[in-house]
Amino acid sequence: MRVLVIHGPNLNLLGRREPDVYGCQTLPQINARLQELAESMNVELKIIQSNSEGEIVSFIGENADWADGIVINPAAYTHTSVAISDAITAVDLPTVEVHLSNVFKREEFRHFSYISPVASGVICGFGPESYILALEAIVREIKQSA
Ligand code: DQA
Repeated sequence: MRVLVIHGPNLNLLGRREPDVYGCQTLPQINARLQELAESMNVELKIIQSNSEGEIVSFIGENADWADGIVINPAAYTHTSVAISDAITAVDLPTVEVHLSNVFKREEFRHFSYISPVASGVICGFGPESYILALEAIVREIKQSA
């Protein structure tokens, strides 16, 4: 089983970025935990972080045949990107949207997501643990859809 893990803009700054909101773990630390869990489930990961919407769109399209599913934290693009939403629809892969923070407890503009309507489900509010839950969820989703 193969899963794309996509981290959107500014998530490269985790650890130093608003630790009261996003926690103290860095992205390499989160990725290491994901990698460890993936190996234990016999899942192969391809992980990227990008600050560029176009790069994320291209990455999804380029890996359409490689991947069985997607875990994506689109970060700020969650609330703005028709292009990422369209890319997910285009590749037709099960997708779990993930957020570290509980976006519904935050500013109103974070309550709307272009990604949720094309995702199998959404996990938010559990800090770095959200990613762990999201990986477990996508693996189940892929198994169910097989
Ligand atoms: C985020 C929530 C978004 O609203 C924000 O723009 C981010 C991170 C999260 O993981 O909580 O950059 O996706």
